[in-house]
Amino acid sequence: MSEAADERLARYIADLFAREDDALRAIRDAHGPADLPTIHVSPSEGAILHLLLRAIGARRVLEVGTLGGYSGVWMARALPADGRLITIDGSEKHAAVARTAFARAGVADRIELRVGDALDTMQTLAGPYDAVFLDADKEPLPRYLAEALRLLRVGGLLLCDNTHLDGRVADPSASDGDVRGMRAFNALVAADPRLVAAVIPVRDGLLAAVRTRP
Ligand SMILES: C[S@@+](CC[C@H](N)C(=O)[O-])C[C@H]1O[C@@H](n2cnc3c(N)ncnc32)[C@H](O)[C@@H]1O
Repeated sequence: MSEAADERLARYIADLFAREDDALRAIRDAHGPADLPTIHVSPSEGAILHLLLRAIGARRVLEVGTLGGYSGVWMARALPADGRLITIDGSEKHAAVARTAFARAGVADRIELRVGDALDTMQTLAGPYDAVFLDADKEPLPRYLAEALRLLRVGGLLLCDNTHLDGRVADPSASDGDVRGMRAFNALVAADPRLVAAVIPVRDGLLAAVRTRP
């Protein structure tokens, strides 16, 4: 398929299955003016995260990497009224934008935003969680995985964005920290007998794994 046809197909799917309301659109639109990088998940990826959380009846979810709150709103809207999304970001600037987004989307009461280093903050948490979504820096991913497995219940979902790293993960000439972290993480997940995993080829690749045993 040509690039134009690819783009047309992606738009067709998103228009049907990843429809944004004004609050979600406003979050994406706010990234540029608020000087945030536009590295949030795509609408289709948001819809997949939402669907996966609904499918397992998630009530307690951890997100590592909040940015402006775009994926957080997709996920928080999948939770029941007494559900909880704990989301971590190291940037107070990003957190301030996310807080506004959560309030505008009507999910602030279900979200606990922790500002701090991802690993340090994860280490303060106690499980069980129904799902853990890893979407922060890539080099420490193996350490995030260890914490996620400490927190995740049997039947829970491990999710991780950017599996493809724009194709660099499979490029033998690429060996920077992000690539090394992602490759090590992918190998650990693939070999872990507690996890059944697959990569959903949406945007930059979304890894989804279910924990099948303690
Ligand atoms: C890709 S963005 C998250 C996008 C968000 N999940 C979304 O789709 O809307 C990554 C975020 O992780 C945060 N981050 C990166 N490394 C971190 C670390 N070591 N500790 C805490 N936050 C970190 C960055 O500040 C950034 O906001």
